[in-house]
This record gives sequence, structure tokens and C-alpha cells, in this order.
Amino acid sequence: MIPRETINQIMETARIEDVVSEFVTLKKRGSNLIGVCPFHKEKTPSFNVNPARNIFKCFGCGKAGDSVRFIMEHEHYSFQEALRYLAKKYGIKIEEREQTPEELAAQNERERMFNINSFAQNYFSNIMMTSDEGQSVGLAYFHERGFRDAIINKFQLGYCPNSGSAFTEFATKNGYDKDLLIKVGLTGSYENRLYDRYQGRVIFPIHNLTGKVIGFGGRILTKEKTKAKYVNSPESEIYNKSQTLYGIFFARNEISRLDNCILVEGYADVLSMHQAGIENVVASSGTSLTTEQIRMISRYTKNITMLYDGDAAGIHAALRGTNMILEEGMNVRIVVLPPEDDPDSFVQNNPIEVVTKYLEDNARDFIGFKTNLLLKDAKNDPIKRATVIKDIVETIAVIPDPIYRASYIKECSRTLEMAEQTLTNEVNKILRAKYRKQLGLDPKQDSQLSYQEYKTYESSQTSPSYQSHTQAENQPPIGFFQEQELVKLLLTHGNETIEIEGKDENDNDVVYNTPIASLIIDDLKNDGLLFRDETHKKIFDAYDRGLDTGILPTAQDFTSSEDQDVAVLAANLLSTQYKLDDWQRHRIVVKTEDDVLKKTVLTSILRYKDMVIEDRRTAIVKELMETSDPDDQLILLQKKKKLDDIRTRINRDLGIVITK
Ligand code: CTP
Ligand code: MN
Repeated sequence: MIPRETINQIMETARIEDVVSEFVTLKKRGSNLIGVCPFHKEKTPSFNVNPARNIFKCFGCGKAGDSVRFIMEHEHYSFQEALRYLAKKYGIKIEEREQTPEELAAQNERERMFNINSFAQNYFSNIMMTSDEGQSVGLAYFHERGFRDAIINKFQLGYCPNSGSAFTEFATKNGYDKDLLIKVGLTGSYENRLYDRYQGRVIFPIHNLTGKVIGFGGRILTKEKTKAKYVNSPESEIYNKSQTLYGIFFARNEISRLDNCILVEGYADVLSMHQAGIENVVASSGTSLTTEQIRMISRYTKNITMLYDGDAAGIHAALRGTNMILEEGMNVRIVVLPPEDDPDSFVQNNPIEVVTKYLEDNARDFIGFKTNLLLKDAKNDPIKRATVIKDIVETIAVIPDPIYRASYIKECSRTLEMAEQTLTNEVNKILRAKYRKQLGLDPKQDSQLSYQEYKTYESSQTSPSYQSHTQAENQPPIGFFQEQELVKLLLTHGNETIEIEGKDENDNDVVYNTPIASLIIDDLKNDGLLFRDETHKKIFDAYDRGLDTGILPTAQDFTSSEDQDVAVLAANLLSTQYKLDDWQRHRIVVKTEDDVLKKTVLTSILRYKDMVIEDRRTAIVKELMETSDPDDQLILLQKKKKLDDIRTRINRDLGIVITK
């Protein structure tokens, strides 16, 4: 572990312009530097480096942060790895913090497991490239399948000799522990005898995001039906199949550059695609995709293209697991290959231009694809058709974005030859049921929603009237911007103090020097208002703790936060110029800087409160329209009245502050 002081030292020493210019050519523009963004495709540079604040921000793709964040993003390093990189660059010595014996044991074991895997990978590769058996069996197999040495070396493929326990013996002779060899699944034990689990198989090492070997797949070379085609690593502290995508280490940069991830099924498919120069490809390794795998992809892109065999099984596989991807808010497209092909054979047997053109021409939007496929099956059977419609409606209902849902409904109403409104109603029925069930929303209860609840709530509403109420399409929930405004004030001015007039315990007039943070945090806490956005809340909490301890966080604490969401938001908010625009707009003469700040803070708080109230009021009005029970209506009307009163008060205060 790197001690906090060293982390601070690294962060203070690392100059953003220095760190970035190793990877991006920067040109001076005003007080900033500008270059072509390494995180997305662009022709005109929109990647900004701000040496004064020691942060970067791309105005094209929105990525932002400090030096550590840049290295994490660019090199796909963890926080600790990025720190080590920078420490090395600046010659800062890392005095590791003393670890507890438990931490040490756990870390050591993981470390030792990585070491064993790396040792094994080297062994398997060497054997294949240099031994007689390796060349004539393993290497020959790969060559026969059309894999050239470049790709074999890049993916560190190998071969395990077909002689019982050659590898295990070699490993133990080199000091590797047999229990650990068993634990990572390189070695098996039968009646006290050790044997190589991968004997006589070609080896596909499986890498994690940072390129470390976390596991292996070993393919059999014969067609024996009695043996498993693949032997794979067992689950362990370093290998979790459901969190792994084969090829991700080699594909991640292309995935984010092309803003698309091609998903295939097998090791061979990944290799052939990469060999053909299509490098944004990963494999789920035979199982249907897990949520963790989808989230891993979504770090790089929101677009997935699934490439499937043209046979019936392949098409079926395409339909499975896809709702889950849609649920994560990803856009899914499907390419079905010609019936006789899988991705491996297709790219091996066709020139690259044919392949790329095929992918372009045949990428079908998932829902359209599914609708057509099911309809073809149903033909004119009305009962089957009804089932199809139900299935499609359920699929549309999992899409989190209401705008996308609406457009799918439009499209499907055409293909299914059904009225759009009927489909909308069906989708909304599912959403409402899901929403009520998940959140236990009782219409009779006060509808104070958390942010998460609100998001679900908002996205469950597709009716046009509701959308017009929330104004723009796909907007964050009501109050979000007001929240963000307060967060920005905290970050930019939270530590500054202003004078607030008050009374001391003897009722004498005194002037308190109050930090802006206290003004904001204490006021909101007094009214029991909490930020609803997770990231906003984290920043709020940090200031809240700071007020308790007397040590307020600095903006740099956030831009350098280990928490990615916090760091990115902070960098973003600090990159946009803070405008005290209202005061200019209202042509208010301000006496001092303090005065402006005070007014800005107070109005921001009031505006925020106003939005929160407005939001609750909207929910109540909506309920009012939905309920026909007179008792419910009465209760709701009373609530509405109370909120209206508060609003009037807020607006009065707002008016006072503004005109004062
Ligand atoms: N798989 C597995 N265990 C098996 C069969 C398959 O782990 N017994 C996984 C592997 O990751 C494999 C993927 O499922 O890559 C796809 O299976 P399949 O199409 O049978 O294998 P390919 O890798 O395509 O093998 P090949 O083309 O060599 O037959
Ligand atoms: Mn195959």
C-alpha cells in the first residue's frame, strides 16, 4: 500500500502538461494547452490541458481529471498502478505502508498466483516454440488453423506436453508451491499423484485488463468425444469467469477508439478477427454474457455488436442474454453470419474488405432483428403472434432510456402492425408493475423519492404529457442542475469564508466568519435535504465531515479522488468557468466580491429547494390525476397546498435576495 503522504507528494509533483505530453502532442493556446484527444476519434483538437489547475478535460468526449486519472484512463491502470507509474517517472520513492499480516498474506497469495501463471505461460510458449513435440503438435495445430506467429506471440499461445506431469515437475523444481499450482488449476491431483491438467492441449492464456495472466483455456487436439474440448482454470482469487472477457486487454484501446465492441463466442474467433486487423473484439467464452462483463465493456463504449454463427443455435444464442445488455443502457446490434460460417472461418476465408463490408451491411438493430425473426416463426398464427408481441413489449420495457423506448415502439408498431398507443400502454403497464414491485411505492404515501427511485420513476413514464413536462429529451431529473450548481460552489468557494451577521449567546450583534461550505451544508441539513445524485452526495458528505473535523477538503482532494465518479465530476465542474451571471443579468450593483458570493450561494440554495419542492409537487399532481378515490384526492390536495405555501415563501426569499 502507498501511504497517503506519498500519494500527495506524487500528485503535487506530477505536472499534467508533462504527463499528457508523453502521449499527446500539445500546443499552447492562451494559458491552456490543446491537443487531439487520445480517448475518442476526432480531427479538430478539443482536448484541453489546464496547467494552473493541473487537470485535463476533453470538450469532445467529456473525459476529465488530473494526472493520475489521465494515466488510469490512458493505460487502463488501477489507481495504485497509475501512482506507481508516476512515482517512477518523477523518481519518487514509495515507502510502502506496513501491511497487516492478513493483508500481506492475501496479497502475497494473489501475487504468487499471478507469478505462477506468468511462469506457466512462459513455459507453455517456450515449449511450443522450441521443443520438438511443441512444434510438431502444438505449433503445427495453430498453423494449420491459419494462425500466424505474430498473433500466436501476441496472445502468448502455448502448448503443454503430453507427458503426465512434465510441467508440474518443472514448476516445483523451480520452487513453485504445489498447493498453489493446484489452486490455480495448472495441476491436478489424483490419489496423491500430481498431473498436468492441460497435458497434450494447446493453451490460450486469459489476460485481465492490465495484461496479467489470470487463467488458461486448454483445447484438446483430437476429436475424442470422451474428453472435454476445453479445460479451463477454476475460479480463484484472481480468476472469476463471469468478470472476464477473453481478449479485453488487447481490444480495449480499439473498443474505445472505434466506440464499438464486437462480441464473439470463442477464443479462435477473437484470434482470427485480431489477425485480420479487426481488434475491437472480445469473447464471452461460450457462456451468455454477465452483467459484470457488460459493465466492463461499458467502460469503453455503449455500443455492442454481437457476431453470431449463421446456424440456428447461433441465432438462438443471439437472442439470449440480450435483454440484460439493453437493461444496462447499451445499444445492441446483431450481425448474423452466413449459415455455414462462424466468425473464425468467416474472416479466415474472406478478404478483409469483404468482411468489413459484410459487417457494415448486416448489422441489424437488435429489437428489429428479434421482431422479424419471431414474426417469421409465428407466420399468421394469431396466438403465436400475440406471444411475439408480448415478448417484444417486454424487451422494449427493459430499455432504461424513455426516448429510445419511444422510438422502438414506433418502429415495432410498424413491423407488428399494431397501434403505437397500444404498445405504449403495454410497455407502461409492465414498467408500472415493475416499479411498484421493486420500490413498494404506495400511491397513498408521500412521494419523496431518492435519486435512484426518481430515475426509475421518470424512465417509467413514456406518456407525451409527462415528457413535455420534463422539457427536453433525456434530461437528468428535476433539481439535478441545481444540485450540481451547489456542488460547484462547494468546490470553487467552499473553503472561503464570508462574514455573516448574527447574535452571540448574550444576544449581542456579532459577525461570524463562516465558510461557504458551512452556509450550504448546514442550511440543507437543517431542512433535511440530501443530494440525490450519488456523486453529488459523496462531495456533500466530504464537506460535511470536513466541517465536523475543522479540516475542509480542497478541490484537489476531489480531482485526485480514488473514486472515479467524484474525480471526473470535480474536474468537469472546475473546468467550466464559474459565472456569476445572474447578477449581471439582473443588473445588480455589487459592492464587494463577498457580497456577490453570498448572494450567489443563497440564491443557489433557494433555487435548489424550489426545484425539490417543485418535483414533489409534480409527483402529487400526477397522482391526483390518476386517482379517482375522493379520500386520496383530499389528502393529495392538502399536501399540494402545503408545498405551494413553501414555494411561495421560497420565491419571496428569492425575490428579497435578488432585489436586496
Ligand atoms: N468453451 C469452453 N468449454 C467447452 C466448450 C467451449 O470453455 N467445453 C468455451 C471456449 O471459450 C470456446 C467457446 O466456449 O472458445 C466457444 O466454443 P466453441 O465454439 O466450441 O469453441 P471454439 O473456440 O470456437 O473452438 P474451435 O473453433 O476450435 O472448435
Ligand atoms: Mn470455432
